[in-house]
Amino acid sequence: MTSIKEKTSGLVTLIPIISSEPLPIDQPDSASRTWLFSGIFWMSVTMLIGLVEAVKLFYPEFLQGVPALAYGRLRPVHINIGMFGFMSMGYLGATFYMVPRLTQTPLFSERLGSLTAWAWNLNLLAGCLGILMGFSKGKEYTEIPFPFDMAIGLFVIAIAGNLFSTITQRREQRIYVSLWYILLAIIPFPIYYTLGNASKFSGIEDAVINWFYSHNLFGIWLTTLGLATLYYIVPKQVHKPLYSHVISFVGFWTLAAFYPWNGGHHVIWGPVPMWVMTASVTASIAMFIPTFATMVNFGGTAWGTWDIMKRDVSYRFSLLAYLCYVGASLWGTGLAVMSLNAKLHFTNMTIAHVHLGFVGFGVPGVIAFTYFYLERSLKLKYSRSMAEWHFWLTLIGIIGYVVSMGISGWMEGSAWEAGGAPQGTMIDRYPYHVARAISGLVILLGQFLFVGNVIQTINYPVPLETKNEEHSTNNLQTQNVTIS
Ligand code: HEM
Ligand code: HEM
Repeated sequence: MTSIKEKTSGLVTLIPIISSEPLPIDQPDSASRTWLFSGIFWMSVTMLIGLVEAVKLFYPEFLQGVPALAYGRLRPVHINIGMFGFMSMGYLGATFYMVPRLTQTPLFSERLGSLTAWAWNLNLLAGCLGILMGFSKGKEYTEIPFPFDMAIGLFVIAIAGNLFSTITQRREQRIYVSLWYILLAIIPFPIYYTLGNASKFSGIEDAVINWFYSHNLFGIWLTTLGLATLYYIVPKQVHKPLYSHVISFVGFWTLAAFYPWNGGHHVIWGPVPMWVMTASVTASIAMFIPTFATMVNFGGTAWGTWDIMKRDVSYRFSLLAYLCYVGASLWGTGLAVMSLNAKLHFTNMTIAHVHLGFVGFGVPGVIAFTYFYLERSLKLKYSRSMAEWHFWLTLIGIIGYVVSMGISGWMEGSAWEAGGAPQGTMIDRYPYHVARAISGLVILLGQFLFVGNVIQTINYPVPLETKNEEHSTNNLQTQNVTIS
């Protein structure tokens, strides 16, 4: 039986203050821990930078005069740390945890998994310092300069290889839906990434390729890993099978069929061929099918679980992630309607949609997994009161952010549609920008409590009652598929 000390000692791979023991990088779950805790670290960093940006948008003198802290440099750093630091690493932490359990097979190489996480961290740090020093490639979602951009591509291949090799050697032959989503992320993403970052096209062709890649970065890489995590933890949190495996497959295959072709909706009304726009708008509207399937499936699974919701903060975060995923996706489908896009493109409405997706779905998903991991895997008790504060601060902050940006976006779109001067709306949207910064601060305070709670839980371990059914890690039967 592995002791709590042994189980948590892998955490020193990221947070040296937690333990002074040597760095074990080849024990089970050590790769998962390194990815997960790195993701949480980057989450706080990207939010801090987001907050600085938010303040600069209504008080431009803030931190003025330092070139590295100029808005134009901080914004791409915020985005790249958000995508590659926080979300990729957080969800890869969950993925490295899920794959050995879903396949009933040890990870192909824990050592490779941990080393790629470390290399990814250092490379991302170097790439972002490059952007701050003014070496950005200057194209959205591919700003990280050479050679660090290419290194990410190599690491993505190493990660995919490690996970894929485990899956091909699996002992459990049946493939649970989470594993389908993981395969959908790891097989094509190395190709998308290379295409986007090594593209030698120029002009409008380059824009179309770039959006094909960027959209798949959020859709096929981050969203699928997020959904895989929710499909894994929610049935365990509610102690019952998924509402419907058939619906989960309808959701999976329609998402796999339509999501990759959504990229063109980012250039609606741009100088691109009409067929590119029409095809991507059609695929975006068709995304209603997987969104609806997810809505019904998680809704059905969650039905009647109000008691669990009240007492289990981790489950509440899962539900928040689920609701925001559905909300962001329906909102995105609306934004892809060409007449609405004409009004709302270039406004804060896109920023509201993006943050409902990332802060509403991405952040709570990683948090839900982390609390789940502390309890179910390490069998440690975290502070319930800190977690409650964390939940309410996060929820209030997300609502404040999305509502303020949504109203501001609608107002801007309406003013521009009526032929108003952009300067006018800049003054009008001032209070909404202040409200967004306050909301960002509230979210960030919540995450500081979260990080403190995690560090305290590991540093001063209080074991959970192992006989407690609620926290049991026994196998859970989800209809005909066993996940452990
Ligand atoms: C405290 C939380 C956060 C705050 C205050 C914040 C703030 C901001 C601000 C001010 C912008 C620039 C908006 C503009 O150019 O008009 C932005 C953009 C962006 N943020 Fe955040 N952010 C936060 C969290 C996150 C997180 C966790 C992610 C995760 C990936 C993220 C991803 C993005 C992306 C992708 C954009 C670019 C959106 C676009 O170009 O349409 N943000 N954020
Ligand atoms: C059915 C699902 C979705 C559809 C159809 C969709 C649609 C759209 C559309 C039409 C835009 C362009 C808005 C504009 O610039 O005028 C957009 C932007 C964006 N969406 Fe979504 N969305 C979906 C889900 C999501 C989710 C779940 C996330 C995050 C996890 C996300 C992240 C983003 C980002 C980051 C951008 C901004 C890109 C940029 O301009 O820099 N989307 N989406």
